[in-house]
Amino acid sequence: MKQIIYQFLVILVGIWVSGCSIPEKVEVGEQRVFRITHADSSGRMFSEIWTGHKLEFFDSLGAREISSKYFDRAMHMQGTRFMAISFSRLLKEYQLKRGEDAVLLNCFDDYQGILSLNDIHRYDLRLATKIKLAFLNFKPDWLNPLLILVPDGKHPPFQERFLTANIRELKFVRLYDYYAPLEKIARHSPEAREGFEVFKNNCLFCHSLKGRGGNKGVRLLQAYGYSNGRDRKKFLTDFKNFHNKDNADKQDIEQFVNEGQLQQITDYLLQVQKSH
Ligand code: HEC
Repeated sequence: MKQIIYQFLVILVGIWVSGCSIPEKVEVGEQRVFRITHADSSGRMFSEIWTGHKLEFFDSLGAREISSKYFDRAMHMQGTRFMAISFSRLLKEYQLKRGEDAVLLNCFDDYQGILSLNDIHRYDLRLATKIKLAFLNFKPDWLNPLLILVPDGKHPPFQERFLTANIRELKFVRLYDYYAPLEKIARHSPEAREGFEVFKNNCLFCHSLKGRGGNKGVRLLQAYGYSNGRDRKKFLTDFKNFHNKDNADKQDIEQFVNEGQLQQITDYLLQVQKSH
């Protein structure tokens, strides 16, 4: 009971403090260099470098202070505030002529996110340039702008996909090209196809396969043999031991996937292993 009262007090204090003073504040730093990479009219790729003053351009796009229940839920936090711009508004600055229908999000910490332009418009996704955590909330190293945000009132599926942080580059790409080498492996097995969907929405960002995705996490193809029952079991226990709600680095991935989906992921990884 004591514990419950204490927790209640902590929550109350947290709400009160976030309402009047905000101690933890992370902004886009002057020293950080961002890029936006796209094709020019002749089809050549080039990067615009965004740093220092250029970043003020973000604010000229109408940055507003907002909250995100989606973010707070996934991070087990409360009352986080952001300065954020509309991603759709930023996209208006670019003329895409080569069938680009997605934005690749390369991050400072070797995380690689990707969002379709469709999702950006449909869920009115935002790009946060400042993050203000409420009192007593702990900031993991990777939680820096630019950050993808689901604004309140929008309800995309609850997935790791909509939580990319620490972004250093936005790059326009074609979704089909990006996923093609991974998709074709799953073609002949319905379980593997399901597994691929779950994997690409929650895992690929940190556990790369075939040159797609980031490398924050271990290489899952090397670490386990998916045709072996014991290894499959170990994969599941290792996953639960690491990616749970107590994860020190706030990488609670377990909240996004159920037991059946994890099994489907191992079916998919088995197909990938067989294809080598
Ligand atoms: C935000 C990045 C991130 C995401 C997303 C992510 N992981 Fe991880 N994963 C990690 C890191 C970091 C480790 C720890 C690596 C280490 O041990 O050094 C890890 C470890 C693991 C491990 C092994 C743990 C161990 O004990 O060696 C498994 C299995 C795993 N992840 C599976 C998954 C699956 C399946 C998904 C998607 C449902 C996923 N991960 C999503 C970053 C991520």
